[in-house]
Amino acid sequence: MSLDHKTTNKLKEKYEAIDQDVEPYLEGLLHSKPINYWDYIQTDALLNLQVSRTDLPDEMVFLMYHQVNELLFKMILWEIDQVAKKEDITATFFETKIMRISRYFDVLTSSFNVMREGMDIDQYNKFRKTLTPASGFQSAQYRKIEFASTNLINLIDNRFRDTIDRNTTLEHAFEHLYWQAAGKDYKTGKKSYTLTVFESKYKDEFIRFTEFYNTNNLYAIFKKLPKSVREDNDLINAMRHYDYTVNITWVMAHYNTANHYLNIGGKTAEATGGSEWVKYMHPKYQRRIFFPDLWSKEELDNWGKNI
Ligand code: HEM
Repeated sequence: MSLDHKTTNKLKEKYEAIDQDVEPYLEGLLHSKPINYWDYIQTDALLNLQVSRTDLPDEMVFLMYHQVNELLFKMILWEIDQVAKKEDITATFFETKIMRISRYFDVLTSSFNVMREGMDIDQYNKFRKTLTPASGFQSAQYRKIEFASTNLINLIDNRFRDTIDRNTTLEHAFEHLYWQAAGKDYKTGKKSYTLTVFESKYKDEFIRFTEFYNTNNLYAIFKKLPKSVREDNDLINAMRHYDYTVNITWVMAHYNTANHYLNIGGKTAEATGGSEWVKYMHPKYQRRIFFPDLWSKEELDNWGKNI
């Protein structure tokens, strides 16, 4: 096959546009190696990231499944970012993206049995102690998915929601996010080590991230769409599916897993992150709802109760 003039001209134009001569680039092709699967996917790097802390074989299941989850979180943030930066959004574009994001969460939810059934309880309760005081709660990407999905007010602890409005500083709102309850004693204001180190690593980044997503999160974008788009039934169903999957189905798969490993003979063991997890994790207390306008009053009142 010979290179036609059109392609050669396009190549010339491409390099001229950056003041470069195309010749050495073409010559470079003579010497460059063909790409292999392992070069492209970086399998060597990827498969060297699994470093366990014990010799218990099931710790590897735990570690790798978390890594798989973090990759899927990254895929979700990748999609949300495209919605946030797109101009002139149509119902079809928005719905397609919401469905993509939902599919990733469907994978996360349906695969959670890898955790629930996948490890030996005795092994789990041994290796998890070597992970104290770390917690999945310190997943920055999970926090970002929430910030990028809804207005900050919907992530504020239910008990303080009425005291916070658009005029509240970001700093103050941040202190009342629902997940502070996993590591803060509200009577004394004292934070756990797990929460303190998490914030010292990520708080500045979170504040920057929320500044952008304050007006560019999925819910805010939906609300800016024309009425005819907002009333599109397929779109509404797609958004409700996403909200329910993240905030009920995934949360319950997670909660049931915690119950399986940490509720031994009716006695709940303390989690590595140290939260009062039974109450903290259940959606009926957490009441995390990304798109409250898309649920009826009855559905909101019963959130997480009939499961
Ligand atoms: C045996 C498996 C698991 C158990 C027993 C478990 C248990 C817990 C518990 C008890 C908490 C509450 C915070 C604390 O005190 O530590 C928590 C939070 C969390 N875990 Fe897990 N977890 C498991 C697997 C996972 C996996 C695979 C992920 C995926 C990355 C994950 C992500 C999270 C996140 C994002 C939070 C914070 C949730 C929130 O704030 O609502 N966990 N986990």
